[in-house]
Amino acid sequence: MTMNRPILAANWKMNNGPTSAREFMKSFLDQYPRQNDRTVLFFPPAISLTTMAAAIADRRDIMLGVQNVYWKDQGAFTGELSVGMARDAGARVVLVGHSERRHVFGETDEETALKCAAVERGGLTPLLCVGELLDQREAGNAESVVVQQLRAGFSQMTQLATRDVLVAYEPVWAIGTGKTATPEDATAMHSVIRKELSALCGDRGRITPILYGGSVTSANAQTLLGAPQVDGLLVGGASLDAGSWLAVARA
Ligand code: 13P
Repeated sequence: MTMNRPILAANWKMNNGPTSAREFMKSFLDQYPRQNDRTVLFFPPAISLTTMAAAIADRRDIMLGVQNVYWKDQGAFTGELSVGMARDAGARVVLVGHSERRHVFGETDEETALKCAAVERGGLTPLLCVGELLDQREAGNAESVVVQQLRAGFSQMTQLATRDVLVAYEPVWAIGTGKTATPEDATAMHSVIRKELSALCGDRGRITPILYGGSVTSANAQTLLGAPQVDGLLVGGASLDAGSWLAVARA
């Protein structure tokens, strides 16, 4: 999988069903000709994936992912989505351990590990999200929380030395709050993540893309992207409006 950096990723969360996804893409693609110096990644709701795949058919600079999967391949698991189905519908990447999965739906480190392993088995790329709560930061535990989430999330993968993975640092206190980590905070935590990735993935850990997420806007995207160790952005709210997302994608 070739991804050029920076990686600009839009996490639409529970927004944009097939009809609005189609309209969004029409407007976005009209104004965003192919760019070879970056990769744009969309995480639409799974139900909009085939619509999105049709829209980007001839665009190698744009890729799709899903926001969540279950770790079993198939069977009686009402409401769940397998890695194989996501791949079939056009996904190349899977978000694992997003803060809302962890804190709204109670997803554990053990579950993120099973999901990352299933994504690897299914031949897709996991984008593992890690990040501390405000009280964990205030207690001085931010780094240990993030390192623990990383180690746990990748603990069941067997090909870390040879396969692509992506990581996003999304401090929970910055998600949807309008409070962004400073570029210095982002660089500091990304450096901690980089060191841990080198321990986990060997040489490959040095080039694993690390994205920042949390209240990224068209106004701060450029500055955050310019921070050392920030290889891309994972954007929620500002990715829902075609105009503001265009500005971020061009940052
Ligand atoms: P916001 O950009 O809305 O803060 O959301 C960030 C996020 O959770 C991306 O995955």
